[in-house]
Amino acid sequence: MMKTYLLTPGPTPIPESVNAVLSQPIIHHRTPGFRKIFQEVEAGLKSIFQTEKDVLILTCSGTGAMTAAVANLFNPGDQIITINAGKFGERWTQIAQAYGLRPVEIKIENGKTLALPVLKQAIQAHPGAKAILFQASETSTGTQLPTQEICTAARQASMLSVCDAITALGVFDLPMDRWDIDVLITGSQKAFMIPPGLAMLALSDRAWEAVEKATLPRYYFDFRKERKALLKSETAWTPAISLVVALQESLRLMREEGLQNVFKRHDRLARATRAAVQALGLELFSEAPSTAVTAVRVPGTIADGKLIPKTMRDTFGAVIAGGQDELEGKIFRLSHFGYCGDFDITTGISALELTLGKLGHPVRFGTGVGAALQILAEENR
Ligand SMILES: Cc1ncc(COP(=O)(O)O)c(C=O)c1O
Repeated sequence: MMKTYLLTPGPTPIPESVNAVLSQPIIHHRTPGFRKIFQEVEAGLKSIFQTEKDVLILTCSGTGAMTAAVANLFNPGDQIITINAGKFGERWTQIAQAYGLRPVEIKIENGKTLALPVLKQAIQAHPGAKAILFQASETSTGTQLPTQEICTAARQASMLSVCDAITALGVFDLPMDRWDIDVLITGSQKAFMIPPGLAMLALSDRAWEAVEKATLPRYYFDFRKERKALLKSETAWTPAISLVVALQESLRLMREEGLQNVFKRHDRLARATRAAVQALGLELFSEAPSTAVTAVRVPGTIADGKLIPKTMRDTFGAVIAGGQDELEGKIFRLSHFGYCGDFDITTGISALELTLGKLGHPVRFGTGVGAALQILAEENR
């Protein structure tokens, strides 16, 4: 038997009390019992989104909500600006193209973040663009983007800001109403600590006006239908009922910890992880490392970088993420959000040290773990 440790940026591990809820018998979704749960979930989501607006709950993965946002906000031929800092930014461009929009893409080199003058230039060059679509945390490169500044720039240019916060919401501070984020999207299998299958999103009044005017076809993912159903504390269609019930429990856990403490925990785990890999002589891949996930450059001593995640998983049971597409074999990614604590970090770093040693990279065992513990200890004093 090999014990496994899930250290990926989604799905993330599930707390024991959430697993207990998931094993309960199914209930019906048009009943007073479900509505009561739904109301509590709505209130909990509003506090994590930091919004007074309705939070829609869709039964789909995060990409479903991204697709739904495009279908609900725009007309065929609309121009929009997409920020492509990696695979998920590229996805915005591809969805926009699939729906017949005219995306103007700001392509950022992998591992770099958005420079605001570049955004301002794009806005000036395309004043007719309706929206700016971007990631708060670009998971593929482990890069955090300047959400507040992007939203301010969008507001000044009368464009909508559409933020994929799938690995950001509930990880670090993203106050929707205070920062004027027009559309904020997240997914269940990330900071919300439940299995994949739900996507949650909220819209500002300006975004709702766009929804009313949009002419792209939509049926299952029609936000107007979802908003109407919300008045009865229901979803338009049969939701993933068990996941909504599980979300009630995970939101309770987040409330119990306190949102600011959740952010602080993620921040110190991220710093401990970065300190550990740097102490091992490895290089962070991103110039603006995300609080959610740390991307690390494969060292030159290891010819086949794909062997790092493979060995960590197959030999040591630590499941991490490798690089995707052109970054495959060039980086690996350690996640530190959701149901994640100090010893998930030291476990992951231990497995990394053993893996590096096994693959012939010179390691003094304990160096990375020691650096992580140093950060964790300082903040526990
Ligand atoms: C930033 C970001 N956007 C979008 C997605 C896609 O979400 P899903 O795989 O749930 O469709 C992911 C998944 O990891 C992500 O990290």
